[in-house]
Amino acid sequence: MSANIPPGISYLVKSLPQLLLPPCVVSALLYFYRLYAVDNVLSARLVTTLYILSFPMALMISVVFSDISNRVAARRMNATMLPAPSFWEDPTPGSLVSLYRAMKSFRGGYPGDGLENRLVTTGPTFNFRVLFQDRVVTFEPNHIKAVLATQFEDFDKGEDAVSTLGSLLGTGVFAVDGELWKFHRSLTRPFFAKDKITHFDIFDRHAEQAIEKMKTRFKEGYAVDFQDVVSRFTLDSATEFLFGSDIGTLSDPLPYPFFTYTGSVSPLNQTFSAQFSRAFNEAQVATAYRTRFGLMWPLFEFWKDHTKEKMKLVHGFLEPIINEGVRRSKMGQNEKKHSDDETVLDHLIAHTEDRTIIRDEIMNLAVAGRDTTASLMTFTVYMLSQHPHILRKLREEILTVIGPHRRPTYDDLRDMKYLRAVLNETLRLYPPVPFDGRQSNKHTTLPPVKKGDKPLFIPAGTRVVYALFVMHRRTDLWGPDALKFDPERFLDERVHKYLTPNPFIFLPFNAGPRICLGQQFAYNESSFFLVRLLQNFSTIELSEESQPPDSKPPESWKEEGGTKATEKVQLRSHLTMYVAEGLWVKMGEAPATEDF
Ligand code: HEM
Repeated sequence: MSANIPPGISYLVKSLPQLLLPPCVVSALLYFYRLYAVDNVLSARLVTTLYILSFPMALMISVVFSDISNRVAARRMNATMLPAPSFWEDPTPGSLVSLYRAMKSFRGGYPGDGLENRLVTTGPTFNFRVLFQDRVVTFEPNHIKAVLATQFEDFDKGEDAVSTLGSLLGTGVFAVDGELWKFHRSLTRPFFAKDKITHFDIFDRHAEQAIEKMKTRFKEGYAVDFQDVVSRFTLDSATEFLFGSDIGTLSDPLPYPFFTYTGSVSPLNQTFSAQFSRAFNEAQVATAYRTRFGLMWPLFEFWKDHTKEKMKLVHGFLEPIINEGVRRSKMGQNEKKHSDDETVLDHLIAHTEDRTIIRDEIMNLAVAGRDTTASLMTFTVYMLSQHPHILRKLREEILTVIGPHRRPTYDDLRDMKYLRAVLNETLRLYPPVPFDGRQSNKHTTLPPVKKGDKPLFIPAGTRVVYALFVMHRRTDLWGPDALKFDPERFLDERVHKYLTPNPFIFLPFNAGPRICLGQQFAYNESSFFLVRLLQNFSTIELSEESQPPDSKPPESWKEEGGTKATEKVQLRSHLTMYVAEGLWVKMGEAPATEDF
């Protein structure tokens, strides 16, 4: 999108050929009519009506034409059309009511609201067609496997992703395809090799800083927003690991609960990390919101790109990191190509002088490295606060394997089976990336849901959204207790019954050639932090009085089934999932000696 032209205008200019076609056709028809008709008197009102009607007519013709050509292509591929919600569920043109519901649910609903029922009405993969565009939604493991792995060549991030994510992620690894993606991935991959990610000095320093800050705040008698603390911990750790210097957000004071403010705004909202966090979150929320509209998003941000000002602020924070990298590079400090100390940033600067490419890549890695792992740790602590017996068992493992003070090593973490099970169970019920998508780059098919059925036809250019949040909670895949938080399911016979024969039912890090590069880094980082946390604290409780009232789950949720009824916080998701207004907790310091 051009720098100064409003997105809506830019979109209309690009769409000009399609927009002008219908009135041009009407003009041509009128011209021939006037040329050959005996009585060629047409009233001005009729002519105006014809011009106006030419737009919906053209839309209708193109919809009918693409439907017929898709049916022909499906028949040729011996495939069947995708099931779709019944026409009577939403008879409005372009399914506007469904679109409205999706927008409303984005602001205050529960992730995947209404999707579970689709298993009965349409099956786990269906065409949720809005604004006359096909949009496939799936929570079927075989289909997600096809999209991510076995039919990787048929699906890209696509034009949609470049358009909607562009202002946030630019040309970085997340939003691009083809050769550019391969370039980014190969550039970054060596930095996630085992020998690079098993030194824990960085984690230790930042974890100590974070835990000390929490202890001080608890001693003052206040709760702490744990989500804020771990977002700073992951950002400072990832920036130091990847770029050689950390962004220093843990140096800022922690926020106090809302009821301590005398004015409308806490003075701490002006701190560096608060401003950065706000801009970073708001840019992601705006981006996620626009993905609802696909390529048509500029019409909904007609005069102003809603991410622009936030991104200006975010880029302002990233600039010093790049400057520092360039300064080091100029001083010849990073001539040590491929040496142990080289960071991703040194490597980038050695490969390109294009500051936009460098900045975009840094932005992508900051998004990847901060929010995902912070989400995992936030929801783990949320679950531990709700299940004291699991907290006790986890601490027992930590104190047995490592003891109350020693710093954990990589080998310690690898041996801690219960800790890994707790993390996996959190990733199952609260996957940090709950919804994601790809776009088909040609006519293709997905395997039949039932043996003997025909494959499902996917037209070229179709957005396929895969809902891990829903798949990870399916009782037919995980057993009747799928909605229960129970880490043992990753350790007992249920592993062999459900997961081993069907590994694609658990995909928090995705799969295939674009599988998460930071998976092992994230396990190490979150395991390390949790060990340090639980060496220091023995109890965790939610501080409901510190949770801003409008961020609490609405009373009406209690009447609904599943985890929606028992949730103590509201889940939100932009690109990643988080707790609305933070996870406010109080923790009790561990006694000097403990027996289990
Ligand atoms: C619990 C933590 C994490 C989870 C659940 C997670 C999940 C994911 C998912 C689902 C994707 C695929 C996105 C897509 O292709 O649409 C992904 C990609 C990626 N992740 Fe992670 N991630 C985590 C932590 C990290 C960390 C800590 C880093 C780096 C510091 C990282 C780096 C990346 C990168 C570079 C990619 C892009 C891979 C590509 O497109 O080739 N991730 N992650």
